[in-house]
Amino acid sequence: MKLLVISGGPRSFGRSKIVANFIANKYGIELIDLSNSLIPLYDGTIEQNELDAVQLWREKVKAANGVLVISPEYHNGMSGVLKNALDFLGSDQFSNKPVSLVAVAGGGKGGINALNNMRIVLRGLYANVLPKQLVLDPDHFQMERKKVTDPAAQSIDELVKQVSLYVRAWEHVKAEEAVS
Ligand SMILES: Cc1cc2nc3c(=O)[nH]c(=O)nc-3n(C[C@H](O)[C@H](O)[C@H](O)COP(=O)(O)O)c2cc1C
Repeated sequence: MKLLVISGGPRSFGRSKIVANFIANKYGIELIDLSNSLIPLYDGTIEQNELDAVQLWREKVKAANGVLVISPEYHNGMSGVLKNALDFLGSDQFSNKPVSLVAVAGGGKGGINALNNMRIVLRGLYANVLPKQLVLDPDHFQMERKKVTDPAAQSIDELVKQVSLYVRAWEHVKAEEAVS
């Protein structure tokens, strides 16, 4: 099973990156970090289809059986860098693909709007956005150690288990369809 984790924060030192690194390292999952990506601002020109960064982005998401998407909540939505990167993709990469969501928020009651924003956008890409989702607040982090806390790690574990379960189910259905 090939899972992919997308770190959708623009800040290379941000909390989104800490979570993404944690998931990538703990579960041996490939990471795409949009804070150091060469994906340009989407302008709809066909020249952008030839860019290595765009081709690699499309290929890697397409090749994944399941995806974990992490975004900071910025002004009640996902980050601009993530939305821009998603605008290069579509059903070719995401059709029926299990996707789990994590929002990294500022505390209080933040995070749910970014989750709902990601959910509705990824539905537009025909992804199968899963019911379990996670908001991580600043107190879920040990910033001096660049780590998440144990309770956050436990919630992340449940999220990874759910996306793995749905990937297995979906791959099973595809295998059955292939022989019938
Ligand atoms: C431009 C901007 C807008 C923000 N808007 C929100 C918000 O609407 N809700 C929220 O909970 N936190 C908000 N925050 C706080 C961030 O979600 C929080 O700092 C989070 O850790 C950012 O993730 P990052 O460290 O990966 O950049 C905002 C931060 C910035 C810089």
